[in-house]
Amino acid sequence: MVTSSAPGKVYLFGEHAVVYGEPAVPCAIERRARVTATEREDGLRVHADDLKLDGFTVEYDGDGDTRPDVEAERPLVEAAMGYVNEAVSQVREATGTPEAGFEIQIESDIPLGAGLGSSAAVVVAAIDAATRELGVELTPREIADRAYRVESAVQDGQASRADTFCSAVGGAVRVEGDDCRTLDGIGNLPFVIGFDGGAGDTGALVAGVRRLREEHDFAADTVRAIGDVVREGENVLGTDDYESLGELMNFNHGLLSALGVSSRSLDTMVWAARDAGAVGAKLTGAGGGGCIVALDEGDDALTALKYTPGCEDAFRAELDTEGVRRE
Ligand code: PMV
Repeated sequence: MVTSSAPGKVYLFGEHAVVYGEPAVPCAIERRARVTATEREDGLRVHADDLKLDGFTVEYDGDGDTRPDVEAERPLVEAAMGYVNEAVSQVREATGTPEAGFEIQIESDIPLGAGLGSSAAVVVAAIDAATRELGVELTPREIADRAYRVESAVQDGQASRADTFCSAVGGAVRVEGDDCRTLDGIGNLPFVIGFDGGAGDTGALVAGVRRLREEHDFAADTVRAIGDVVREGENVLGTDDYESLGELMNFNHGLLSALGVSSRSLDTMVWAARDAGAVGAKLTGAGGGGCIVALDEGDDALTALKYTPGCEDAFRAELDTEGVRRE
């Protein structure tokens, strides 16, 4: 039995545009998914006690049979199971054991589908735990690569390497196409997260941006402008010029909004954080619902978010410099 964990992340800059080859800067945060893998004779059995969906328990035997009491959460549960299925395929390939069977237990502090990289963290931790269980140790980069293939398979080829690379190696990273690197000397960034309790449909949101980009030059220009924001942001990162960083985050949020991926609750939380003195605030991840990330050295944005209607949870998130690890 091996347990591994991997961190979630926020996008400081660049989600959506990264799908089209623009750079992005995701940052790992100290909220983790933990996956325990135990070898079994054959097949796959998944237990997900708590994916922050009101503590349901689901057992899944690999053939689409989920317990009836999770009917309401089914789409999200099935999405999570789809990722685990693909992760196990990668493990079988990496270890040269096509018949290997596993019992997989998932626990996560990262809300599902809310822009904090929950699926990437589960996939990265699952690949690490299950390969180690078979006596094979992959490097974080190899895990990132295999986890990317999982996300691509589940999301119909619409995935960037950003989430999976960030979760595997930790810290602040820069991803541009296949070029993934760690950004050193960033220091801690005063992230505050607001969560509306909901989730966005990443596939549908990515497809929406793709359609806009194909139909309108101004939408394609908007995607390129996000790339420009990221390039400017990189020059500021690592300095303590939070004001400029925040201004660029605000700009990034406006461009994402123009591409139709924000929502009323995300905008409300973004404005609540800014009004309370955050130097910048933007949605993080695919959008449509889920989380925002704000930059605030004091406690005002955090307090304001806690009292903002529609914000279900607000918390500080430290940059996690460690990626996937054995527990
Ligand atoms: O919502 P998340 O955490 O799955 O992030 C999605 C980020 C996108 O750029 C929209 C898609 C991707 O694969 O990069």
